[in-house]
This record gives sequence, structure tokens and C-alpha cells, in this order.
Amino acid sequence: MRDSGRILNIHSTDLVDVISDIRQFREWRSTLNQTTSVALVPTMGALHEGHASLIRDAASTATETVVSIFVNRIQFNDAADYAKYPKTLDADLEIAAAAGSTVVFVPKEEEIGPLLQGAPMRAGAIGTLWEGADRPGHFDGVLTVVNQLFSIVQPSRARFGEKDRQQLTIITQWARKAWSGLVIDHGPTVRDEDGLALSSRNRRLSPSGRKEALSINRSLRAIATLHGSGNNAVGELLDHGRSLLSPELDVHYLAIVDSETLNPIDEARFGSIVLIAASVDGVRLLDNLELS
Ligand code: PAF
Repeated sequence: MRDSGRILNIHSTDLVDVISDIRQFREWRSTLNQTTSVALVPTMGALHEGHASLIRDAASTATETVVSIFVNRIQFNDAADYAKYPKTLDADLEIAAAAGSTVVFVPKEEEIGPLLQGAPMRAGAIGTLWEGADRPGHFDGVLTVVNQLFSIVQPSRARFGEKDRQQLTIITQWARKAWSGLVIDHGPTVRDEDGLALSSRNRRLSPSGRKEALSINRSLRAIATLHGSGNNAVGELLDHGRSLLSPELDVHYLAIVDSETLNPIDEARFGSIVLIAASVDGVRLLDNLELS
């Protein structure tokens, strides 16, 4: 892509081509021929190893790998959370380039904002569960921006992390209808050595908050172990999981759900999902695990 970057006067850092203008992005996209595959990894920046692993996997499936970076105001129902969202563009470009991205698309709020206003998407009933119950409109905002990104980037495939399990499920089901033909890929949750799921928000944890947060993964693993020993009773599995969560955590939900509908179930089975959201230090942490 470096050559087309020069042709189109795209801003090329030493690391990767960066396009912030939608018109220029579309121009670049139109230079690719029909057979060129384009993978998209949508992000809100503050990239970490979890994103890097998604980008590496995406790059192994396509000729061009576009990473988008846009902190999407309309998926935040809390203005303070939006304002605090970390912004680390220089480091992000390094991580994206090292992981194999060929183009980083950084749309400007003033350009993409009106497009989002003009074409709102609705997540429906599944978007009102769990994260959606605590953050009304969150998944509508996610689908609205993903829809615009798909429309501008025209990817052949797009990759999302399993850490945001509800988001992945909602996008996959929506895209099946709204963007049939576009492949939705997913990548596993990446964890620190101590088991904490990587998240851009982790950098806001204090050392003690981080220690308490480790009980999230401990609890998920204990539920999986108990289920693995033959116990399918969701009530018992959840009681056991709850008993291992630090009392310092503000637990928003801990649930075992059906992997397609995300509705709670009474009897856990192969493929059921344990979902959890809990806050510490005012930082909301999400995690999940698929029972096997
Ligand atoms: O998962 C995220 O980082 C965001 O929700 C996404 C998919 C980039 C949409 O803003």
C-alpha cells in the first residue's frame, strides 16, 4: 500500500499509511482491484496486545489490513467515561504497523459525526440485555459506527475480540442480515500473565484495584472447573463463582447465558457463556468464558 499512499498523498508515517479524510480513504479504496481482499479491525485506539493479536490474524487473511481508530462518542452513555477514554495515537500507529496493518484510518469527528447521525442502527432486544441494561443505547451506538465503517472501508472481512462477547454476538447476528457476504471473524481474549483480560481501560486501575480485579478471572475459571466436574446447575455454578469475587468489586452482573440469544439459562451446557461485568476504581471491566 505504500505506493498508493504516495499517489494519493496520504500521510505516510515511517510506520504505516494514515488516512483521516473519508474522501481520501474512498479514493484509496477505489484504487484496489476487485480481487484484493481487505480486512478491517475496528478499534477505539489505546491499542494493546489484544488488538495486536486481532491485527496479526486479520493480516494473515487479507491483502490489505485496515485498522480504524475512532472513539465513538455515541456508544458512551456517560460523558465522563468518554472524556477519560485514553488517546495514544503515536503508540497506536507503532502497534498497528508492527502487527501488519497496511492502512490506519482515523476519521475525524466532524466528518463522520453527521454520517452517524444520519444513519442510526438499532440493536433490538438483545442490545437491552447485560451491558445494554446498564448502558442504554450503547449497542445502537456500536452498530451505527460499525455500519459507517463498513460502508466506507468496504471490507471483505472484519475482526472483533471475544472479550466483548455481547458486542461480538450482536455484530455477528446483525451483519448476517445487513452485510451478508462480509465475513465476521473473532479473536480470543488476550490476558496478562496474572489472568486479567487486556483492556484499554486497565491502565486506569490502581495497583490495589488491579489485584482485586484478578478475582474476576479466578471466578470464571472456578465456574468452568465446577462445570467440568459434571455440575450443570446454573444456580450452584454462579454461587460458587460469586463466592470467589473480591468484595471490593462492584459486580454489575454474573450470568450464564445461551450463546446465541444471550438469555439466562437454568442448565449450563457445552458452549454456554459465563458473562461478567464488575467495576473497581470506577473502571468497568468485562470478561467472559465459554463452557466446554
Ligand atoms: O470494541 C470497540 O473498540 C468498539 O466498540 C468498536 C467496535 C470499535 C466500535 O466503536
